[in-house]
Amino acid sequence: MPSTITAPEVSAQTQRIMGLEKEYVLQNYARYPVVMHRGKGCYLYDTDGNRYLDLISGIGVNALGHAHPRITKVIREQSGLLLHTSNLYYHEYQGPLAERLAKMSGLQRTFFCNSGTEGMEAAIKMIRSHGGKVSKNKFEIVSLLDSFHGRTIGAISVTGQEKYRKPFEPLLDGVRFVPRNDIAALETAVSDNTAGILIEPIQGEGGINLVPEPYLRAARELADRHNALLVFDEIQCGVGRTGTYFAYQLSEPVVMPDICVTAKPLACGLPLGVVISNERAAASIAPGMHGTTFGGNVLACRVALEFLDILDELMPSILEVGDYCRRRFNELAQKHNMIKEVRGHGLMLGIELDRPGKQIVSDCMAEGLLINCTHDVVLRFLPPFILTKADVDRAIVVLDDVLGRHA
Ligand SMILES: Cc1ncc(COP(=O)(O)O)c(C=O)c1O
Repeated sequence: MPSTITAPEVSAQTQRIMGLEKEYVLQNYARYPVVMHRGKGCYLYDTDGNRYLDLISGIGVNALGHAHPRITKVIREQSGLLLHTSNLYYHEYQGPLAERLAKMSGLQRTFFCNSGTEGMEAAIKMIRSHGGKVSKNKFEIVSLLDSFHGRTIGAISVTGQEKYRKPFEPLLDGVRFVPRNDIAALETAVSDNTAGILIEPIQGEGGINLVPEPYLRAARELADRHNALLVFDEIQCGVGRTGTYFAYQLSEPVVMPDICVTAKPLACGLPLGVVISNERAAASIAPGMHGTTFGGNVLACRVALEFLDILDELMPSILEVGDYCRRRFNELAQKHNMIKEVRGHGLMLGIELDRPGKQIVSDCMAEGLLINCTHDVVLRFLPPFILTKADVDRAIVVLDDVLGRHA
C-alpha cells in the first residue's frame, strides 16, 4: 500500500473491516484503504458513502458497470432455478453460448473455465498436446516480452515479465521471449520445435501496448510454416473492449488465431473464462484430458448470453466514446509535459507518464475517480462499456487537476 496515499476519512466500521483483512487474509494484495459497498452504472460507493467514477471496472470486468437492471434480473431469476450442475450433465446455456462465441470469433469450439489464468493453462495444455503428437522435442512456446498471462505456474512460465516469474522458478522448460516489434527476433525464435506462439494483441498489464499488425501476420505465417498453434490472449482486450468483438478483428484482412482465450468482461463480474479454438487446435484434447468442476456453470453462462445481447447494442458507443476519451487524453498531453504518449483502442486506453503513476492514482481516488497504474508509469483505463462522454468530461476535470498538482 502506498505510504503517502491521500485516503478519504475512514469510519470505525471501515477500519474494522480493513483490520480483519490484515489479520486473517493472505497479504498478497496492496489494497487501497476503501471498502466498496455498492455500485450503480459507472459509479461505486464505499461504506462511508463516498462516490467514485469507476474507470477501471474491476480491471476490465464490470463491462456493464454495476447493478445493470438486465443482468440483475437474469441473476435473480436463474438463482431461483439452478446455479450449478457440474459438467457431468448438459445445461441449457453452454451450447448456445458456445455457438454465439463461434459466430463472434470465427473459431468453432469453446472450453469453459473460471478465470483468465485457467484459460491460459488450458491453452498451454493444448499447445503441449499438439506438439507432443508430432515429436517429443516439439514443446517450445514463444511468447512476448512485457506480456502477462496470469498467475498459475503455466501462465507465469509464459509471462514475459521477470518479476512475476522469478520467485517461483524453476518453471516450464522451453519458453522463449521476444520483443513485440521485432519480426526478425520472432523468426529466429520459432522453429520446428515450437508448439505454440502466444500473443496479447494489445498488452494490458504490460502498459497498453498494441502489437503491430505485421507482427501478428508474421506470427500467423510462422505458426503455419512450423505447424505451431497461434494463441491470442484476449483476456483483457477481448469481448468488445476495442469496439470489435476481439482485438485481432482490428486487423484487415483479419489475422486468425488457432486459439483465443478470453475472460474478464464475459459474465459481467461472475467468474467465466473461455478458450475458443479451431478444429485443428481442438483436436489436441480428447475426452478426459482436461476439465473443471465449476467452469461454464449455469448462472455464468446465462449471464454471458444476456451480456452479449446488450453488447451488440453498445458496440457503436464503445468506439465513439473511446475515440472521444482518447481525444480528450491527447488534449491533456498538450497541456501536461509529464504525458509521454496516449495509447489504446476503444475503451482500453493508457497514458504513459515520464514518472511513476502510483501517487497520481491515489490522488485521483481521493477526488472520486478510480483508475489504475500498470507497468509503473502507465495510467490504465478499462472503463465500463456504458461510459458516456459526460463521464469522460468528469474524469478529465479530475485528471487535469491532479496532473497539474504533480507538474
Ligand atoms: C492478458 C491477461 N491474461 C491473463 C490474465 C489472468 O487472468 P485472471 O486474473 O482472470 O486469472 C490477465 C489478468 O489481468 C490478463 O490481463
